[in-house]
Amino acid sequence: MTSTNDIRRGFLDFFGREGHQIVPSAPLVPQNDPTLMFVNAGMVPFKNVFTGQETRPYSTAVSSQKCVRAGGKHNDLDNVGYTARHHTFFEMLGNFSFGDYFKERAILLAWELITKEWGISPDRLTATVYHTDDDAFELWRRISGLPESRIIRIATKDNFWAMGDNGPCGPCSEIFYDHGEHIPGGPPGSPDEDGDRFTEIWNLVFMQYEQADNVVVRDLPRPSIDTGMGLERIAAVMQGVHDNYDTDTFKALIAASAELTRTDAGGERKASHRVIADHLRASGFLIADGVLPANEGRGYVLRRIMRRAMRHAHIIGASEPLMHRLVPSLVAEMGAAYPELVRAQPLIEETLKLEETRFRQTLDKGLRLLDEATAGMKAGDTLSGDVAFRLYDTFGFPYDLTEDALRASGLAVDRAGFDAAMAEQKAAARAAWKGSGAKASEDVWFDIAEEHGATDFTGYSGHEGEGVVVSLVKDGVRVDKAAAGDEVVVLTNQTPFYGESGGQTGDTGTITGEKGLEADVTDTSKPLGRLHAHHAVIRSGEVAVGDAVHLSVDTERRAKVRANHSATHLLHAALRRRLGTHVTQKGSLVAPDYFRFDFSHPKALTRGDIEAVEEEVNRHIRENEPVGTRLMTPDEAVAAGALALFGEKYGEEVRVLSMGRGDDNAYSVELCGGTHVSALGDIQLFKIIGESAVAAGVRRIEALTGEAARRWLTEREERLKETAAALKASPDEVPARVAILIEERRRLERELAEARKALALGGGGKTDMAGPEQVGGHGFIGQVLEGMDPKGLRGLVDEAKKRVGSGVVAMVAVNDGRASIAVGVTDDLTATRNAVDLVRKAVETLGGQGGGGRPDMAQGGGPDGGKAADAVAAVREALEGAAVPA
Ligand code: ALA
Repeated sequence: MTSTNDIRRGFLDFFGREGHQIVPSAPLVPQNDPTLMFVNAGMVPFKNVFTGQETRPYSTAVSSQKCVRAGGKHNDLDNVGYTARHHTFFEMLGNFSFGDYFKERAILLAWELITKEWGISPDRLTATVYHTDDDAFELWRRISGLPESRIIRIATKDNFWAMGDNGPCGPCSEIFYDHGEHIPGGPPGSPDEDGDRFTEIWNLVFMQYEQADNVVVRDLPRPSIDTGMGLERIAAVMQGVHDNYDTDTFKALIAASAELTRTDAGGERKASHRVIADHLRASGFLIADGVLPANEGRGYVLRRIMRRAMRHAHIIGASEPLMHRLVPSLVAEMGAAYPELVRAQPLIEETLKLEETRFRQTLDKGLRLLDEATAGMKAGDTLSGDVAFRLYDTFGFPYDLTEDALRASGLAVDRAGFDAAMAEQKAAARAAWKGSGAKASEDVWFDIAEEHGATDFTGYSGHEGEGVVVSLVKDGVRVDKAAAGDEVVVLTNQTPFYGESGGQTGDTGTITGEKGLEADVTDTSKPLGRLHAHHAVIRSGEVAVGDAVHLSVDTERRAKVRANHSATHLLHAALRRRLGTHVTQKGSLVAPDYFRFDFSHPKALTRGDIEAVEEEVNRHIRENEPVGTRLMTPDEAVAAGALALFGEKYGEEVRVLSMGRGDDNAYSVELCGGTHVSALGDIQLFKIIGESAVAAGVRRIEALTGEAARRWLTEREERLKETAAALKASPDEVPARVAILIEERRRLERELAEARKALALGGGGKTDMAGPEQVGGHGFIGQVLEGMDPKGLRGLVDEAKKRVGSGVVAMVAVNDGRASIAVGVTDDLTATRNAVDLVRKAVETLGGQGGGGRPDMAQGGGPDGGKAADAVAAVREALEGAAVPA
């Protein structure tokens, strides 16, 4: 028997030998087509090569492409488990010619591979061609030698292939395999063609045209070839079985689920085992390609697939979560061909386990409700939409799961009723939101969110992508289009742009599109917490709702933001270890050029604290451990030791970021929706540049990483070098030199003060102090001292008092235009002259207020330094004339 893995390899090698480039499968999430939920055909990754928009260094290629047909235009979910050939996930083998060979060589290679290389008997084969394609008919006749009766002309769309309403298309030719008379069914085009006897195994598309809105609008630049062969189908043929689920890969997966649940793989549980095997593959590959369960968009398709499988696990009697335990079998079967499966194995297992654990909490109750609601119903009856909605809303039953659950008893579900109940709930949510006092101008976001759902964020793994414009908002109002010069908010169905949240600033970048659109995104916000609003300035061209655009994040800026964000996590952990677990995050701002982090702590950090924290964070950066991301419920995350931000609102699922090696857990575990480095070494360097208080009990650290930190340190070094040069010393000598300078300055200040004092008392110490004047019968010394330190005034006055013997002293020091005054009265006169009264007169003259002290010494001051001499005169006058209080 030829294994599925051998068939895949054989196909790639055959075309490789025929000069085709072997191209690895693209991820399931389309990189180049925003209108598509998942890659659903082998040609999707090459779409733009066919239309000429993109060129590759090769003109022929071969691939085995992962495909998912669930949730989008091609949706096979409902049939899985009940037919021989439907899958949600499958592999499409295909060879491609981009303007190289056309029909003849395509038919020749196909015929050679299946009849010669693989030895499938021509007697079993039938070909179809599009009814008007005489060329293809003739080529088949000549190359295969098939009788004309087995080259069948088909007039329907079955033989005109298009990837969707838009894109490359052309007539096609299909190869059918006859499984034999024992299976009911007729050849293609016959009345009983829907039977299973004749299976289409390979579709050769002669790509010639391009469609827009389902109408052929132009010829492709060069006729091309796109072929698609379902690996599962050809494996069935080559392994001599009729049913895809009887091929080696599926048999192994089904055997694993039968063994783990100790059940029979066939019998009445057959459908359930098939559903589990199929959905295991789809879930595993989707998770490996970055899709995680969610309540909208791709994530919801994944959730529907997972939960559908989980209900079947419940049906076959699994008493505990089953799906994650099947992942090793999936990896064993397919990991060699798809290494991403091996890399993502822990994530796949965890995601499945979490989802199943949670879903089992409501599954039983939901099924009981379903039993009650359907008791007494008979085949052909319809379950009310309200019940289906309750199952959805309260018990987490996706709509199609309820349908699937009723399938066996022949019951249907009232879809219109379900939709109406959903609409009613949305209206209620909106009314509640309006009542919450939100600004009316934000109504527009609600409208958009309701119409189009949340923006699908694709930026955890990439910086570029395609999106369809779902809405444009200009000056708070929705508009249909915008043109050069406009400032407009652009909303797309999906985007790699991070919207400002959780302290992380929004991304900037560009949006480009057909119609010459070039727009700069200056910021991305996140209204309602689920829309990503690109604030754009249109530089040229125009954009309209419905346009496909290319979104491109400024990667350099994002890399800096990422490094800063991851550094906040490490800082948080380091602070808690150093200062204690009372430290919790109070806020943060993560910008590209720096970040700040606010946290609860009662007092300033010491230099030792800062150094220790810096050192520890930098050690983790050097250790360069990969950063782990997992999805959990908030409760589980907290139980796992994650630090939850106080006051943050978390959704049903949270991302849990783990960084660095800790004692028994990661060094840092936090809930966070931000974007982060993949390994800590990407942060490069961490430097704290500021520590301050923001509020009582809240400190703020400002810090830099990477190049910004290096530049900061270099600038500091420059300053040090300049200082050293000025001191004529080496940088190492600077601290000692500065200490000496400070000491010298102190000494000089002391000396200067002495000199001033001497000057005040006696003319620079050279001549004796002039004898005091006689005023009002007493000695008086009055003096103005420019630049005198006011602190020295008292001492000076005391000394002058000694010289006066009996009398009054008034000294004014003038500094920077301000005046300070001290007045002294010798003890023998304090009964009749009061220093306080005298000083007040002087203070008034100086434009000040008050002044105080004791009767023998009082001080004051005022802003009018220029009136210093007048102030002395005022004291003199008071002594001369004024009545003296007793
Ligand atoms: N693109 C073609 C298909 O999907 C081959 O059938």
